[in-house]
Amino acid sequence: MTIKIDILREATLKRLNEAKSKQEIEDIRLKVLSKKGELTEILKDLKTLDLAERKELGQKANDLKNDLMELIAEKEQEFNLNDVQISISKGLNFDKTLPGIDFELGSLNPVTIVQKEIEKIFLGMGFMIVDGPEVEEDYYNFEALNIPKHHPARDMQDTYWLENGQLLRTHTSPCQVRAMHQFGAPLKLIAPGRCFRNESTDASHENTFFQLEGMMIDDGVSIANLIYIMKLLLSEVFKRDVKIRLRPGFFPFVEPGFELDLNCMICNGSGCPTCKHSGWVELLPCGMVHPNVLKHGKIDPEKYTGFAFGLGLTRLAMMKYGISDIRAFNSGDLRIMKQFSTR
Ligand code: FA5
Repeated sequence: MTIKIDILREATLKRLNEAKSKQEIEDIRLKVLSKKGELTEILKDLKTLDLAERKELGQKANDLKNDLMELIAEKEQEFNLNDVQISISKGLNFDKTLPGIDFELGSLNPVTIVQKEIEKIFLGMGFMIVDGPEVEEDYYNFEALNIPKHHPARDMQDTYWLENGQLLRTHTSPCQVRAMHQFGAPLKLIAPGRCFRNESTDASHENTFFQLEGMMIDDGVSIANLIYIMKLLLSEVFKRDVKIRLRPGFFPFVEPGFELDLNCMICNGSGCPTCKHSGWVELLPCGMVHPNVLKHGKIDPEKYTGFAFGLGLTRLAMMKYGISDIRAFNSGDLRIMKQFSTR
């Protein structure tokens, strides 16, 4: 009986491959696979066999059935396509007024949209865009930023350490000294990128989020330059006046340091889970680059001064687009991300 199935397989495959029309394919299907078809006929004697043989034969018959069905579907598809192509080329049966086949276009992530806007603003002011590694050295993430080992400031950024002593960068600030080493002074740059912190997540905290670092170093750069650039950045992004507050902030790599908070745009400052009911969202810490950091960057602090800022890019996208929970960004829920389609 096994031989009978093998013979049937060989003959049917040959016939299918030689078939010239859809009708021929259908005839073969009926002849072999229908209730009264050749395969069913062979299987009628199955009950006369012992269990092991029945199992083996049943499996073989099943494989043949599946293979034939697959090939039949393929052949039918080929003939269908041919039919369409012939009708199109002859101008027959082809209704040009029918709507085309719709396909979905992807859309930019809101973080990318804001990032591109900011890049444009800074490129226009002569800043360059630099990049840095997401797997970073302790030196660039902490040491060079005036945060030596065992400094309590390390606790402010709960870090994912790798076994080899490297880490997932906790902020984009390591790009500061990397760029100083690469380009020297004067220097004007922004560095957008992904950061990682071992945080418990909530409406405004993620373990993976985006920041955008900015830095300007030159002869005579002052806090006035810093405040001007911060104001310009926010007014260009929001295209209207926004309410901010500036307060002292501590970061070992700037002196003096500031926290620039944005009036929460989800609740208009009345208090909600996004701003932890304070009415303000921490968005744009900044300050004047600490002389020790310039020294690490091999830049003379007697000659040059500079400012730096670390914008919370994901939070900015939340404020700009009214996204009340940061966890939406990594949720994979396309219903949220699709709303920003550029179509
Ligand atoms: C820093 O990371 C400093 N490197 C910023 C800086 C740069 C200061 C240059 C001075 C000079 P901070 O930890 O506050 O600072 O983070 C900066 C911004 O990133 C925050 O204001 C916030 O908007 C965003 N941010 C921080 N942690 C998270 C988080 N877990 N989820 C989402 N956004 C976050």
